[in-house]
Amino acid sequence: MSAAAAPTWDPAQYLRHAGHRARPFADLLARVPDLPAQPSGGRPRIADLGCGPGNVTALLAQRWPTAHITGYDNSVDMLDQAHVEHEGPTAGGGRLDFAHADVRTWTPEEPYDLIVSNATLQWVPGHADRFADWLRAVRPGGTFAFQVPGNFDAPSHRLMRDLAPRYGLGDTLRHEDAVLTPRDYLARLTDLGCAADVWETTYVHLLTGEDPVLDWVKGTGLRPVLTALADAPDQREAFLSDYRAALREAYPATAHGTPFPFRRIFAVAHKEA
Ligand SMILES: C[S@@+](CC[C@H](N)C(=O)[O-])C[C@H]1O[C@@H](n2cnc3c(N)ncnc32)[C@H](O)[C@@H]1O
Repeated sequence: MSAAAAPTWDPAQYLRHAGHRARPFADLLARVPDLPAQPSGGRPRIADLGCGPGNVTALLAQRWPTAHITGYDNSVDMLDQAHVEHEGPTAGGGRLDFAHADVRTWTPEEPYDLIVSNATLQWVPGHADRFADWLRAVRPGGTFAFQVPGNFDAPSHRLMRDLAPRYGLGDTLRHEDAVLTPRDYLARLTDLGCAADVWETTYVHLLTGEDPVLDWVKGTGLRPVLTALADAPDQREAFLSDYRAALREAYPATAHGTPFPFRRIFAVAHKEA
C-alpha cells in the first residue's frame, strides 16, 4: 500500500472507546463561544468535518438544538453508522444529517456559523492550507474549531512505525507532517485574521481489559496497517503479535487498569463579528 492509499474504517471497533474519545470533543466545545445571532426564522448552520460514526456530531445538536448540522466523511462504513444512529430532526427543531465528502477537497458552498473537526485533520495532508477556504465560509462572529492528536512520538505510534518496514510497510504510516505544532496552528489562524485560542492537553486514559492500547489503536492509528495487510492474514497476525508484545512493555497494566497518556492539540479560531 502506498502512503496515499486511504485506510478502511470499522465503526464498531472505533466506538469501543467512545467515552474516552468524546472527552476532547467536549473540552473543545467548551471553548467555542455562542454562535452569531440568526435573522428571524434562521437556523445556525454547522459542519463537522470527518464526523465518523456521528456520535460526537450528535453532541453538537445538544448544545445547538435549533441548528442544521451536517457531518461530512469519506468512509461509507462510518456514514452508514451515522445515518442509522443519528440522522433526523433534533430536539429544538433543528436537523442532523450526514453526507459524503473528502475533506482534502471539501469547499463550503454556503456560509457556516461553525465549522468543527474532531480527530480527523491528522488524516488530511496539507490541511492547514485549507483553513483559508473554510474560514472564508465562516460567518462574521462564527468559529472554526478543531482537535487533532499530538501523539505521533508516543510509544503507541513509534512502535508501529518501527515494525512497519519489517512487513514491507515502510511508507504506510505518516509521522512528521501529520499535524502542526500548536504555535504553528496559532500563527496560521491569526495570519488569517482570527482571534485564536490554541492549547494542548495530555490525557491519561485509564483503559481496562486485555491489551487495551492495541484495542484502542486498532480503531484509529493502526488502520493503515490493518488495511494494507487485510489480504495477508498470516502477516497481519505476525505484525499484531510483535506489536502487542511491544505495547505490553511500553504500557504495563496496573492493579487499576492500563494508563494510556495521549497528547492532543486544540484550536478555536473566532472570526470578528
Ligand atoms: C478518528 S475518526 C474521528 C471521527 C469523529 N470526528 C470523532 O471524533 O469520533 C477520523 C474520521 O476521519 C475520516 N476521514 C479521514 N480522512 C478523511 C477525508 N479525507 N475526508 C473525509 N473524512 C476523512 C475517517 O473516515 C474517520 O471517520
